[in-house]
Amino acid sequence: MNLLQHWDQQPHVIASDPNDDWYWEVELSRNPDWREQLIAEIKGRPIGFVQIIDPAREESRYWGDVAPDLRAIDIWIGEETDLGKGYGTRMMQLALARCFADPRVTTVLIDPLASNTRAHRFYERLG
Ligand SMILES: CC(C)(COP(=O)(O)OP(=O)(O)OC[C@H]1O[C@@H](n2cnc3c(N)ncnc32)[C@H](O)[C@@H]1OP(=O)(O)O)[C@@H](O)C(=O)NCCC(=O)NCCS
Repeated sequence: MNLLQHWDQQPHVIASDPNDDWYWEVELSRNPDWREQLIAEIKGRPIGFVQIIDPAREESRYWGDVAPDLRAIDIWIGEETDLGKGYGTRMMQLALARCFADPRVTTVLIDPLASNTRAHRFYERLG
């Protein structure tokens, strides 16, 4: 939890998701079946976070009225020094493979801020 909170305070993470509180102290002790929260590691060193949810079953209905069998992904690299090294691409490839392993899933949602043009490029490159 300390590491996730530390990552939340990094300027590049704040810029991508301002005013959002992930309530780690509550959420890390919960395990709802509509979500997976994953830590990416390089040789045992944690470098980033990925969340995969089913937006139709997510409790706050953040995504509104959406079809069943979609997935939505949140992703960030924790330390600025780990950006731009291909780690995010690899994490996203693994996350997408995990989503599409279920044959019912044909669409994955992402929601970068309009201002996060680097993330737009990142997602476009991933297809
Ligand atoms: C988006 C992100 C996960 C990509 O991971 P990464 O390991 O840096 O990406 P890769 O090295 O695989 O690919 C490089 C691309 O990442 C993106 N990227 C690099 N630094 C970034 C930053 N500070 N913010 C957003 N995207 C960034 C760019 O598209 C970059 O390509 P570019 O050099 O052509 O601009 C990572 O940059 C990050 O954690 N950004 C901050 C959080 C975020 O924006 N998450 C997505 C919110 S929807």
